[in-house]
Amino acid sequence: MKIAIVGATGLVGRNIIKLCEKNFNEEVEYNLFASKSSEGKKITINNREFFVKELKKENIEEYDISLFSAGGERSKEHAKDFVKNGSFVIDNSSVFRMNEDVPLVVYGINENEISSDSKLISNPNCTTMGLVMALKPLHDQYTLMSMTPVAYQAVSGSGSEALQSLNNETLISDELDSDYEDTYYPKPIARNVIPLAGSLTDNGYSDEEMKFVHESRKILAIPNLIVEPSNARVGVRTGHGTFCSAVFENEIDVEECSKLLSDFEGVEVWNDSLPTPLDVEGKNEVLVSRLRQGLSSKNILNFWVVSDNLLKGAALNAVQIAKFLEKL
Ligand SMILES: NC(=O)c1ccc[n+]([C@@H]2O[C@H](COP(=O)([O-])OP(=O)(O)OC[C@H]3O[C@@H](n4cnc5c(N)ncnc54)[C@H](OP(=O)(O)O)[C@@H]3O)[C@@H](O)[C@H]2O)c1
Repeated sequence: MKIAIVGATGLVGRNIIKLCEKNFNEEVEYNLFASKSSEGKKITINNREFFVKELKKENIEEYDISLFSAGGERSKEHAKDFVKNGSFVIDNSSVFRMNEDVPLVVYGINENEISSDSKLISNPNCTTMGLVMALKPLHDQYTLMSMTPVAYQAVSGSGSEALQSLNNETLISDELDSDYEDTYYPKPIARNVIPLAGSLTDNGYSDEEMKFVHESRKILAIPNLIVEPSNARVGVRTGHGTFCSAVFENEIDVEECSKLLSDFEGVEVWNDSLPTPLDVEGKNEVLVSRLRQGLSSKNILNFWVVSDNLLKGAALNAVQIAKFLEKL
């Protein structure tokens, strides 16, 4: 089998490589792509050496599965050429997510929407993915009607450059103040919370907030789901956390919610300790905690969910889809 990894030198790409090593047999031939500046870099996979190629039309061959995490512009320009050459493409960018003919897949929720004709498959937004993993078993039981998610997004969600900025700002230590300008975000992120994640759109919500709205509706197949999102960027390295207030058509039972969540593959409920981004870093599972019935209605569940944005939020879900495709 031939697998292409586009964006192989990035935060997501490197996690994809580690997961492929664990999940595919050692005979797989890997084709690694990145920008011109990474051309010729050597990456060892299963004790074999592979060299990074520049992503350009002339270098694209026939692959079985291609995993894209090199930013939206690269997906827009090249994903369809990979498909034309016979490959399935699993894309981590937001470019194709809302296209009607492109499945938006969270493995464990809706992978059955994939058929052998689904040549292009989108991996959802990292914050949305963690949240819907918790919502799915609750929706199946009580029918989700509306939700108010408040997200605390980690810096690695913005890629290597943002992480480098966090590291630099952390080294400045006590000297860092809000006027410091050599930053990836409009304000320093070390020791800080910026009450906006992503870019503002015309309606005053950020693109990250609007992904909660559109992508949750598509993944959970609830076209009229009401979503009132607020997303902040926090000085955390990895692990997006979300407090969510979810309103259901039916009265919820907190103990039953806890059991439904614990029984759902890929979710862990922590009752005796509080799951934080540091707890979830490097973990495949989505962690849920602080389940409480609403104060104003018995149909509301308030809870906390945290997941590794580079794993279930990106690389792990992409590789789970790739394994699913291998068996199609
Ligand atoms: N980080 C997350 O939590 C997360 C979650 C879900 C989805 N995503 C999506 O995944 C993608 C990558 O994210 P990341 O965090 O891995 O970013 P990153 O660490 O900045 O890595 C970017 C990757 O894209 C490659 N690249 C950049 N410009 C290129 C070009 N002109 N041609 C070919 N390759 C190019 C880079 O190659 P060089 O090393 O050669 O520059 C690198 O391999 C983005 O679309 C992002 O939205 C990220």
